[in-house]
Amino acid sequence: MEQEKIVYAALLGLGTVGGGVYKVLKSQESETEKKLGTQIKIKKILVRNTEKAAGKLPEEDRGLLTNSWEEILQDPEISIVIELVGGIKAAKTYISEALQAGKHVVTANKDLIAVHGKELFDLAEENNRDFLFEAAVAGGIPIIRPLKQCLAGNHMTEVMGIVNGTTNFILTKMSQEGMEFEEALALATDLGYAEADPTADIEGIDAGRKVAILASVAFNSRVVLDDVYIEGITKITATDIRYASEMGCAIKLLGVARNTQDGIEAYVSPMLIPSSHPLSSVNDSYNAVFVHGDAVEDAMFFGRGAGELPTASAVVGDVFDVVRNMSYNCSGRISCTCYKQIPVKKMEDTYNRFFLRLRVEDRCGVLAELTSVFAKNHVSVAQIIQKDAKSKEEAEIVVITSRVREGDIQKALSEIATKECVRKVSAMIRVYAKENE
Ligand code: NAP
Ligand code: HSE
Repeated sequence: MEQEKIVYAALLGLGTVGGGVYKVLKSQESETEKKLGTQIKIKKILVRNTEKAAGKLPEEDRGLLTNSWEEILQDPEISIVIELVGGIKAAKTYISEALQAGKHVVTANKDLIAVHGKELFDLAEENNRDFLFEAAVAGGIPIIRPLKQCLAGNHMTEVMGIVNGTTNFILTKMSQEGMEFEEALALATDLGYAEADPTADIEGIDAGRKVAILASVAFNSRVVLDDVYIEGITKITATDIRYASEMGCAIKLLGVARNTQDGIEAYVSPMLIPSSHPLSSVNDSYNAVFVHGDAVEDAMFFGRGAGELPTASAVVGDVFDVVRNMSYNCSGRISCTCYKQIPVKKMEDTYNRFFLRLRVEDRCGVLAELTSVFAKNHVSVAQIIQKDAKSKEEAEIVVITSRVREGDIQKALSEIATKECVRKVSAMIRVYAKENE
């Protein structure tokens, strides 16, 4: 075992997560050597505005701040770079140059990995360096390491879950307090859950990045952001949630990745999920990931998917792993695990059950007209419920389909929307069910 007495790291970014990592490393300072046989010291902290960042550090550490990446890159004593600046361009440059310079990298950057993961893993492998990213998916919840190591003896068939805290908070408020989407979003913003620009969260893009990473790791085959079909929660109404609840279901924004016989399915979508499923009671800003493997069967991981200290917990766990690997001279031990090339299915070729809400003319023969369009398009109807009429002439109908091909239901709905008897297709929401249910 090669023992360095002090391992030096550089922190890139001192925002929410960077600030958390600084605090967690400090709080571990007295035990790090006992845990790892080595101390870890932050030698530099890169930010754009050193003056602004100084207020976040005690006086004795303000000298660590720099806005010069070169200073870090050229420092041979710094062996670990912890990238927490976020975004693509600068982060990609920092990570690539650090790996090429023989430094190990730990990152929480899902935006980057979901798009450029392969390139960065290749660089890490070429340079025999660690490139770890536990915090990139579901913040403080351990899921990447469990999939790559503890569950490596499985053929994983499904990994799905609630991987965005902001939208889970919004849907929880809509469900528990009957709020409409805009009101719940405003509350999430006030409480600091939603970012100033919440687009990536509410449109499902943040969850889409996590699904791409989870699918790649779980199925040993690269899935990128562009492969993931993404639908956010902006069209979900309090009425949809109430009707779902009457049917014994919650509505959650789910990220779903399935390894089916004819390819990988990867999508993000609001979905009805039965209240008997453990994910239905994951509320507020909590995240949970549910996996199914041929040996382990079902396993669920639950916790804080974001935030200063929970995310820092995952980052620091990775830093400790890097240090252990350095000590035992086995860096790069677990690198890219994508050794297969499984095709990713188009969304139209995926199968789900559907919840439809339609406003139709209230007269004899309307249901027959609708069911004939469904039948023509191979959509089998499992249940039709007529809700209380809003007026004498109009009825609201809720339809639950059997498991049908997405392309078929889309076609049926386009046709239904043109029917004179249909006033509005108010909602089409997927219903989560296991592949064989
Ligand atoms: P943040 O609060 O916006 O902090 C970003 C930090 O990086 C700031 O200190 C900023 O410094 C610095 N920075 C930005 N661009 C830079 C550049 N080009 N060069 C040098 N420094 C730069 O971001 P965050 O929320 O901590 O997120 C960091 C990463 O963690 C992202 O990849 C994010 O997706 C990921 N993540 C975040 C969470 C979470 O809960 N926040 C959870 C999981 C993963 P200035 O202020 O001087 O510009
Ligand atoms: N914005 C994300 C969320 C946290 O709301 O879960 C960062 O991944």
